[in-house]
Amino acid sequence: MKLSKAVMKLGDSATLALNSLGKQLRAQGVDVISFAAGEPDFDTPAFIRDAAKRAMDEGHTRYTAVAGLLELRQEICRRFAQDTGLEYSPEQVLVSCGAKQCVFGAIYVLCDPGDRVVIPVPYWLSYPEMVKAVDAEAIFIRTEEKDEYKITAEQLDRAIDDRTRAMLINSPGNPTGSIYTEDELRAIGEVAEKHDIAIISDEIYEKLVYDGARHVSIAALDPRFKARTIVINGLSKAYAMTGWRLGYAAGPIDVIKAMGRLQGQVTSNANTIAQKAATVALAGDDREVRAMLDEFSCRKTHLVNRLGHVPGISFPVPRGAFYVLVDVSKYYGATVNGARIEDSAAFCKACLDTERLLLIPGETFGADNCVRFSFAVSMEYLEKGLDRFERFLERLSSKA
Ligand SMILES: Cc1ncc(COP(=O)(O)O)c(C=O)c1O
Repeated sequence: MKLSKAVMKLGDSATLALNSLGKQLRAQGVDVISFAAGEPDFDTPAFIRDAAKRAMDEGHTRYTAVAGLLELRQEICRRFAQDTGLEYSPEQVLVSCGAKQCVFGAIYVLCDPGDRVVIPVPYWLSYPEMVKAVDAEAIFIRTEEKDEYKITAEQLDRAIDDRTRAMLINSPGNPTGSIYTEDELRAIGEVAEKHDIAIISDEIYEKLVYDGARHVSIAALDPRFKARTIVINGLSKAYAMTGWRLGYAAGPIDVIKAMGRLQGQVTSNANTIAQKAATVALAGDDREVRAMLDEFSCRKTHLVNRLGHVPGISFPVPRGAFYVLVDVSKYYGATVNGARIEDSAAFCKACLDTERLLLIPGETFGADNCVRFSFAVSMEYLEKGLDRFERFLERLSSKA
């Protein structure tokens, strides 16, 4: 069957594919350790699961308004005000099937073919694909490890031209774990203001921050910034609800309404049962969220301490999310099983073949010098995987 030009331009989600490969190998009995996970390894807290069961038993099994249940959107507004200091009305909120759908919706309603969208590198892999999907053009800003892989306002200023329509910002970031400070965001907001571009702010890792770091939403810093920002968040990461597919966007009413119009023609409302459960999740006291965060924090400290002793690699210590982006390029040039390692894909393939350790190649995020570790795995798993990683690097050193 002939496929459309639009879909032929799109790549597969490499992280989802590698994550499934890890699960598949384990199911086949292969002793593989996977650091590929982009989702918490915890179960959804029991009180949220119970709310979903109750919702079904009480008959909440039909369509809702496209934008989502009013009670959920009210709860989202309450949490925005409480957690981020942002005041929105329920009309300014759209509930979707995951934050992913919100990011796509925002790009779709903001960009015409040929428009440009600025994306900092390393990026979450879906951003460039979504921009491509609407025939817009991604303009990449390269960053450096010494700057914790964050862009500066000056870089943004230089990257914008009269075709630029929007920028994407993701803090806390995947795959970097970086968090933009209030001052950095203020400077970025002023540049967006000067050039009159929209800001799509993906804050899905908002609640996963470590060592006293603080999440700040760019929209909360200035009413002018708020008027040009679409804030995106969801329940996948903080509430361990990836499979429930529940995310939300908040922003200027015309943009949110347009995103709703699109959603109304492609998916309608997000899952009704998940919406009922999400309302209960957001109304809770976040005790479970804090417990998961404490565990992530211990793992992060352990992973960073051990990696800190490994020769020839470098990384910024993550301040949020659950990833560490490690520069392994000093090991490129080594040969394993007859294959020369020249890039992150070859590095990860050799690591999987020889040590049965699954890492995500940095090329997926535009950072071919790096590999991504996820610490959404148990401490025991982390230890075992790190032993394998060290053994793999020793093997490479002897072959350099
Ligand atoms: C930066 C970022 N944004 C959005 C998402 C998607 O989240 P959701 O499961 O809510 O669609 C992810 C998931 O990996 C992510 O890492």
